[in-house]
Amino acid sequence: MRLEGKTALITGGGTGIGLEIARMYAAEGAYVYITGRRENKLQEAAEKIGSNCGYMAADVAVKEDMLKVADKIRNERGSVDIVICNAGVGRYIPLTEITADEFDRVMHTNVLGPYFTVQACLPLMNEGSTIILNTSVTASLGLKDFSLYIAAKSAEKSFIHTWTNELRDRKIRVNAIAPGIIPTDAAGKELGRSEQEEMERRAYRATLIPAARVGHVSDIANCAVFLGSDESSYINGVEILVDGGLAAIYPVKL
Ligand SMILES: NC(=O)c1ccc[n+]([C@@H]2O[C@H](COP(=O)([O-])OP(=O)(O)OC[C@H]3O[C@@H](n4cnc5c(N)ncnc54)[C@H](OP(=O)(O)O)[C@@H]3O)[C@@H](O)[C@H]2O)c1
Repeated sequence: MRLEGKTALITGGGTGIGLEIARMYAAEGAYVYITGRRENKLQEAAEKIGSNCGYMAADVAVKEDMLKVADKIRNERGSVDIVICNAGVGRYIPLTEITADEFDRVMHTNVLGPYFTVQACLPLMNEGSTIILNTSVTASLGLKDFSLYIAAKSAEKSFIHTWTNELRDRKIRVNAIAPGIIPTDAAGKELGRSEQEEMERRAYRATLIPAARVGHVSDIANCAVFLGSDESSYINGVEILVDGGLAAIYPVKL
């Protein structure tokens, strides 16, 4: 029980990576709150996670929504120990086709979202609390047609430096997990691929990764348990790549 007695908020916790983090956190003794925009997904997820889970439909890019989430946590638990900014969106789109709406959608979710999440939660965070950002291995790469998502994840990644300094007096740690290729809805359907295309792409990509496989949501959740637990109390201001070695050897075309 590595997270016994801790309370965690996981934005985007109704699906994919966030759901697996929430599931593993609850199994490790934490009480978890999950948020997202689709209430039905959250309800389904909460049933899977069990009794140590609360949920609320909330858009990370709407400050009032995140303040309501913080109010719920304050009323039910009093404080929050681990805040995981996991909600994120992105898709392949050439730089010539970026519109103001697409820019706002991607930047608001991946960059403004963490601001509003952390602003709402800070009054509930005590000394020793921790913030975990879900960035992306792509922030270190030059993937074609992915400039907007990579710009957003690069901005999010910068918070590990600036927020670590800004929150040092509060003794709140700020770290990030940069997932590699983790098949989820975001990595398949939202990017517009059919299931067949996705399977072929996944098999091809596995041949490029030193670990010889694409990642699993549990690979990210294991790292999130470590960063949320007291085992990592001297780890602050870093991004941990959980990518099977992809970025280390990246000379190849994905
Ligand atoms: N899968 C990968 O290969 C990979 C690699 C690197 C980084 N990541 C990052 O990992 C995180 C999780 O992605 P995933 O792969 O698990 O995909 P996912 O299943 O699509 O998860 C994204 C979650 O974010 C929520 N969300 C999106 N926009 C939101 C908003 N405005 N307000 C609140 N919640 C919002 C979604 O719920 P609603 O739609 O109901 O709001 C969904 O639950 C993202 O930040 C992504 O960029 C993923």
